Amino acid sequence: MADTGTDTWWRGAAIYQVYLRSFADGNGDGIGDLAGLRARLPYLAELGVDAIWLNPWYPSPMADGGYDVADYRAIDPSFGDLAEAEAYIEEAHALGIRTIIDIVPNHGSDQQDWFVQALAAGPGSAERERFLFCDGREGGLPPNDWQSIFNGPAWTQVADGQWYLHLFAPEQPDFNWRNPEVVEEFHAILRFWLDRGVDGIRIDSAAVLFKDLDCVEESYTDHDDVHEVYRGWRRITDEYEGRFLVGEMWMPDQERFALYLRPDEMQTAFNFDFLSRSWDAAELRASIDLTLTTHVPIGAPPTWVLSNHDVTRPVTKYGRPDTSFSHQDRKHGMQTDPVLGERRARAAALLAMALPGGLYVYQGEELGLPEVEDLPDHLLQDPLWVRSGGTDRGRDGCRVPIPWSGKEPPFGFGAGTPWLPQPADWKNLTVESQQADQNSMLALYRDGLKLRRTHLGDGTLTWMDSAEGVLAFTRESLTCITNLTAGAMNLPPHTEVLLTSAPLEEGKLPTDTTAWLR
Ligand code: NOJ
Repeated sequence: MADTGTDTWWRGAAIYQVYLRSFADGNGDGIGDLAGLRARLPYLAELGVDAIWLNPWYPSPMADGGYDVADYRAIDPSFGDLAEAEAYIEEAHALGIRTIIDIVPNHGSDQQDWFVQALAAGPGSAERERFLFCDGREGGLPPNDWQSIFNGPAWTQVADGQWYLHLFAPEQPDFNWRNPEVVEEFHAILRFWLDRGVDGIRIDSAAVLFKDLDCVEESYTDHDDVHEVYRGWRRITDEYEGRFLVGEMWMPDQERFALYLRPDEMQTAFNFDFLSRSWDAAELRASIDLTLTTHVPIGAPPTWVLSNHDVTRPVTKYGRPDTSFSHQDRKHGMQTDPVLGERRARAAALLAMALPGGLYVYQGEELGLPEVEDLPDHLLQDPLWVRSGGTDRGRDGCRVPIPWSGKEPPFGFGAGTPWLPQPADWKNLTVESQQADQNSMLALYRDGLKLRRTHLGDGTLTWMDSAEGVLAFTRESLTCITNLTAGAMNLPPHTEVLLTSAPLEEGKLPTDTTAWLR
């Protein structure tokens, strides 16, 4: 048994998010899988990432892209099987790449054995106690008026008249975290995967596990009791060397957020504040400062996230008149300037890579893939779309399968027709075409990640005096400058330019460009 974690590799790691269904398809069924991922591991090693975070890979009816887990100890047959998952973990390790898996503690699937048993056993049974079943109010009303995050009531009624709570889709019943059986079950699940060599656990919807059901308000996030759960999880991960927890909490209150990062809870959490800010120097600086003040005093490494499988792709987002992130930004036909968007996404990437702490890169971000906004309605699968009555396009547009090579779809994704269609003009965005181009987004990420590995990672930063609209800071041996003013600017004298997100113009740093200097 190892000690309590002398190997803190995750503090400054670059972690690549693989959305398995859309990464690479090894068996030609149009759905990405472990065989496809294994074949592409050399690409990720070459890109220079330290670890892969895999979205849920468990058996699932896919009512929410796998976040409706039917069995926490197995692999969905469309992805492979347990033996193949173990082989993948080992192969990745051999290439120096660690694996982080997604654990979904708030809810399971309505197809999970536990839920099926709960339905059969009826009201008052121990099986029902694993979930949040209640009687309704008079007049056939649900127990309270809470709305689900995916639209519509957060309660669904079953045949015997009781209601169960689901903060997300009805196919995702919430567990009862006041039941010790639930606590123990997740401890066993953690050990199951840690024993198989996974290096980290991403905790889905980490803040919402506990609810006061008699509360009329919608106050189901961030209950104080949740912290005891993560203390338990931390004790378990600390039994294994070099493992860590990363929490997914969308929480505006940074003081509350920091509570999850106390020394006996999670080591890290996703920083969504930075991701949510507009492309504006004051905004970004405020976010960086807020992040550092939240993390540094408690010894937790910050993380930097530009995108993931839940949000609009950066080149699309940054090309919009309003570049702040909101969950309302997925309506049809929003105006975007792709050239401006790409320029800013490149500058944002070098900025994020230079900041102290961990970095998350979502598959396709390194290719500058845009959000696919014109997917045909009948192919959309995201419950946000399905349950919104056509008002929210959902998140499928950032989940379109990766273009690897060739001149037309499926662009080397696999032999079959991809589960979501790729735009024909992605021929210019394939890995193959970008590998041949020194100025491509892929080249920028590869060069940036390499330099980052040598010069950056964990640590802190020192702001330099700079004009309004400019972000300038030093990290150990490196200086990072992002120009968000309307005109080109002079670089400090006597510096060597290591990398820029766009070419200099007559020795000056143009608008919406980041430079790394020494
Ligand atoms: C957060 C995940 O990132 C998202 O994709 C999912 O829909 C919800 N949690 C519910 O599990």
